[in-house]
Amino acid sequence: MKINQKEIILEIDHLEKQYEERKILNQVSLQVKKGEVIVILGPSGCGKSTLLRCVNGLEEIQGGLVSFNGWNVHDNKNKIYEVRQKIGMVFQSYELFPHLTILQNVMLGPTKVQHRNKEEVKKEAIQLLERVGLSEKVNAYPRQLSGGQRQRVAIVRALCMKPEIMLLDEITAALDPEMVREVLDVVLELAKQGITMVIVTHEMAFAKAIADRIVFMDEGVILEETTPEQFFSNPSTDRARRFLSGFSYEKVKEEEKVAI
Ligand SMILES: Nc1ncnc2c1ncn2[C@@H]1O[C@H](COP(=O)(O)OP(=O)(O)OP(=O)(O)O)[C@@H](O)[C@H]1O
Ligand SMILES: [Mg+2]
Repeated sequence: MKINQKEIILEIDHLEKQYEERKILNQVSLQVKKGEVIVILGPSGCGKSTLLRCVNGLEEIQGGLVSFNGWNVHDNKNKIYEVRQKIGMVFQSYELFPHLTILQNVMLGPTKVQHRNKEEVKKEAIQLLERVGLSEKVNAYPRQLSGGQRQRVAIVRALCMKPEIMLLDEITAALDPEMVREVLDVVLELAKQGITMVIVTHEMAFAKAIADRIVFMDEGVILEETTPEQFFSNPSTDRARRFLSGFSYEKVKEEEKVAI
């Protein structure tokens, strides 16, 4: 698919986020172009999840701007539901409805929220589930699936809403190691298809393989924004070097074999 590399779909400009007196995000600015894959790295508690939550208006902000397709996310309260439909979000915990089948879970948003044609959505949902290797689970219930399979359903559920951007927050963090790969493979496939994504992960080899740009944060500040090649071979801050040294070379090599 040919994508317009010039089009900025998400612009974060000098974003400020506080919880009471505590500053969580400090002058964070980032632009995401259509088709780009941004990976956000940084130590626990540095504000990665908070940043993603600010992007789709789940958090109030204290300063700056989040603009999605030209809409000010925090200044368009009546548009926020419309905006959120265009932003697919997948978290660490995949909250599927236990009493609905996989297909019903995937169809719920497009039919109930977007009021799209049921047959059309069903066709799309089945196709998407096939694409992530779950065609046999269409009529199963979430409890009958493994964690990795459930997380793939959560990705499909977000995709079926036809989002313009996907935000993925540590989607493999709760999975057993052998299930991580099946989920990451699906995300790599989405990247190949040109889906715009902002991904928070602790899987370094995966980050290296998938990112167009790496954003490294610490204590609510973006310290580096660069190519994966540059970041992993020669980070420009000591903080990033220390962060990376926590992931041993052998471990990254081992993960690399898995991710690629
Ligand atoms: N609702 C809240 N109220 C007060 N403080 C919060 C709230 N949510 C998050 N924080 C604080 O904001 C900081 C950033 O949290 P955040 O969850 O964004 O970090 P993170 O980078 O995603 O970390 P991790 O890698 O562990 O997921 C943390 O210090 C956290 O304690
Ligand atoms: Mg987090």
